[in-house]
Amino acid sequence: QAPAGLVIAVDGPAASGKGTLARRLSAHYGLPYLDTGLLYRMVARAMLDAGHDIRDPDAAASLVSIFEESAFAEDTLRGREIGEAASVVAAMPAVRSGLIARQRQFAAQAGGAVLDGRDIGTVICPQAQAKLFVTATPEVRAARRHKELAGRGETATFEGILADIRRRDARDSGRSDAPLKAADDAVILDTSALTVEEAAAAAIAIVERRRTAR
Ligand code: DC
Repeated sequence: QAPAGLVIAVDGPAASGKGTLARRLSAHYGLPYLDTGLLYRMVARAMLDAGHDIRDPDAAASLVSIFEESAFAEDTLRGREIGEAASVVAAMPAVRSGLIARQRQFAAQAGGAVLDGRDIGTVICPQAQAKLFVTATPEVRAARRHKELAGRGETATFEGILADIRRRDARDSGRSDAPLKAADDAVILDTSALTVEEAAAAAIAIVERRRTAR
């Protein structure tokens, strides 16, 4: 049983396994889950659908305040092109600030919540009781993404995906506003050599230590 207000922040780079672990934590504790990457993907999708240049910060700033989450089907948000475009709009300060309230409202639910992203532990929920920073080597992440995209019927080479991952890491880590980095009080979980079951058990153990530490 989750105590009132258990907020679990799960951050990490693309294809690190953070989404899978966040979902497992959400099921284990019976907490609602928000994949915050989807919000950035929605802004990117709305930009492309409206015919805007993805690099146009004014267009992105006006879209971020009006888009309706229910207007998007999740399968139109998961592709490779949208991940790349999301990383571009996510570097814009007006987009980041425009998405803060939605994320904090979600985290403020009475029973608590699990959120995953890049800056949950550092910016969105700095008071979260448990923070995980999930990593894996670029090669392992590229292999996972390759499998996932193949399952969606997208044809991309392993090398192409590895290059995507390195470019997104550089952009997500190098931006000045809320760059990807572990919070000082986050526990780092490297999933490179772990099965999903092992990683999920490790994630739960980390959260349990934090819950009992207070
Ligand atoms: O987790 P993802 O691959 O769906 O995220 C897509 C992009 O959105 C990612 O490259 C960076 C951005 N993002 C972010 O900047 N902050 C978040 N909290 C979540 C995602």
